[in-house]
Amino acid sequence: MHFKPVKVTDRVFWVGAVDWKLRNFHGYTTYRGSTYNAYLIMDDKITLVDAVKAPFKDQLVSRISELVDPEKISYIISNHAEMDHSGLLPDMVKLVKPEKIFVSTMGAKALSAQFHWDVDVEVVKSGDRINLGKSHITFLETRMLHWPDSMFSYLEEEKLLFSQDAFGMHLATDRLFADEMERDILEFEAATYYANILMPYSDLVLKLFEKVEELGISPEIVAPDHGPIYRKKEDIDWIITRYKEWAEQRPTKRVLVVYDTMWGSTEKMAYAIGEGASDLVDVKVVPMQGSTRSDVAYEVLISGAVAFGAPTLNNNIFPSMADVLTYIKGLRPKNLLGVAFGSYGWSGESVEQIKKVMEEMGVKIVGEIKSRYVPDEALLEECRALGRKLAEELIKVCSG
Ligand code: FEO
Repeated sequence: MHFKPVKVTDRVFWVGAVDWKLRNFHGYTTYRGSTYNAYLIMDDKITLVDAVKAPFKDQLVSRISELVDPEKISYIISNHAEMDHSGLLPDMVKLVKPEKIFVSTMGAKALSAQFHWDVDVEVVKSGDRINLGKSHITFLETRMLHWPDSMFSYLEEEKLLFSQDAFGMHLATDRLFADEMERDILEFEAATYYANILMPYSDLVLKLFEKVEELGISPEIVAPDHGPIYRKKEDIDWIITRYKEWAEQRPTKRVLVVYDTMWGSTEKMAYAIGEGASDLVDVKVVPMQGSTRSDVAYEVLISGAVAFGAPTLNNNIFPSMADVLTYIKGLRPKNLLGVAFGSYGWSGESVEQIKKVMEEMGVKIVGEIKSRYVPDEALLEECRALGRKLAEELIKVCSG
């Protein structure tokens, strides 16, 4: 098949792949597919920035071939070793036979452990600079954003930052630039991506902005490895502002209720807790039947308090809630208040177990409530009161 490159600047072309059918990115449900962005810099040393996922060879090679014979590529920069960007790297190295492959220290280790290859790479560190002929690239290591190997590459003359996963989103599109897309969709997909990929490293995100300034990096174009490229100042300002907000995770006046249910009892409690809280703050109730763990991650990012509820099944948390709690705990959300709730028949361990996971997440517990079999009106009134108490505590935190 034939695929076209897209011009980003006079010197830089997008040569990546669009994956319209991706629906699961290591456990993150990607309703709108994704792109694996790769870029070709047309300078004396023609340089490929990142590869793509292995099954997308035809897209990458076809787009490059529209511009130049792939064998004319001199350099490859691998900003991130995760397989969605490096999967095709061994094939590209064989095809291109580059003079040099630039990677971070941790990138060299990760690529070697993934591919068990015998390929020489040139390790670069933060502040290192390479000459492509008429243009220059400065590197900035961004460890843990998203993996230990991750780094940025900054094309100085174009003021273009290749930011790999940072500022990206899973959004397959036939339009490559953020200014060509609907802002509401970008808002949702960028936040969902941040919540599911970068939230655990929020403190590092805040430090990253300091490092970018120290190196004098002031991009006029930001080109991530997924989703749209930002080329307008207002779009760059928007995504940077959002990243700072998400990284700080300041509490918002919004209560999130997440639950699953066997025979409707925990659901009744979830609705009652939500009702109680909604007198005072915004509420979102998320049933796990029909929702995914990545939906919940997005909701956690934009909420100030969480209520997690599950029945007890065979002395344990109902499995769908155990799944989502494990996932959210790994994302290390900050600054949350919470309550645990659930119904049971005879043993009733789930609420204590949920509370324990929430405490391990750093959630400040405001209360907990259990219902034996089906909650009666008195117990539902207690649930409403607990929801209201959660909202009251949240309001105090938000005003403090
Ligand atoms: Fe897009 Fe961390 O890979």
